Amino acid sequence: MDESLRALLDELYRDGLRHDQAQADRLARRRNLEPDAAELLWVIIRAMAARNVVEVGTSNGYSTIWLADAVRPGGGRVLSVDLDGQAQRLAAENLAAAGLSQVVELRTADGGAVLAELPDGGCDVLFLDSERPEYPKWWPHPLRVLRPGGLLAVDNVLSHPDEVAPLLEIIEAEPALTATVVPVGKGELLAVKSVS
Ligand SMILES: C[S@@+](CC[C@H](N)C(=O)[O-])C[C@H]1O[C@@H](n2cnc3c(N)ncnc32)[C@H](O)[C@@H]1O
Repeated sequence: MDESLRALLDELYRDGLRHDQAQADRLARRRNLEPDAAELLWVIIRAMAARNVVEVGTSNGYSTIWLADAVRPGGGRVLSVDLDGQAQRLAAENLAAAGLSQVVELRTADGGAVLAELPDGGCDVLFLDSERPEYPKWWPHPLRVLRPGGLLAVDNVLSHPDEVAPLLEIIEAEPALTATVVPVGKGELLAVKSVS
């Protein structure tokens, strides 16, 4: 990654930590992805040569910048969805500062509703980073939208095991997915969709 972009991301992350420490309301915090988890997703996206990435949970665009930089060389695109229009306005500013506005579509909407409307098999990588208890209600769309060989990534599986347990049960029972949990950041679940 370009050094100046990495410096911008590091500053955004530090600013997010300062912001969140002063914010009593959990839902008003930025809750940015940890840098090591973001870096892991970046490497995987580059290795897959992913071109269509969907993110649920934009916040102020910290993780979106990582995803967008990862798909940029291959001419890929990121669709990032968040219910919070104010957060997405901040994300738009941060993406502009990163020079990545053209790579990302920001959509102010419910993640589950957007996933339900996406076509079958068009998504290389789906990253879920919103309210964990909602994910099971969204099934089977997270699986349906992935292409064969596509990747589902879910954050917070080690930090919030009780909240993600119902989703993990669904994934474990799903023959089309093979999953592992990587202990970076707050714990990333990575599940690959079978090719046949
Ligand atoms: C943990 S933060 C996302 C952090 C972001 N990925 C980053 O690393 O900067 C969770 C975000 O999910 C959003 N959110 C919560 N429920 C949602 C839903 N049903 N659909 C879309 N976004 C949702 C919240 O508004 C919040 O901005």
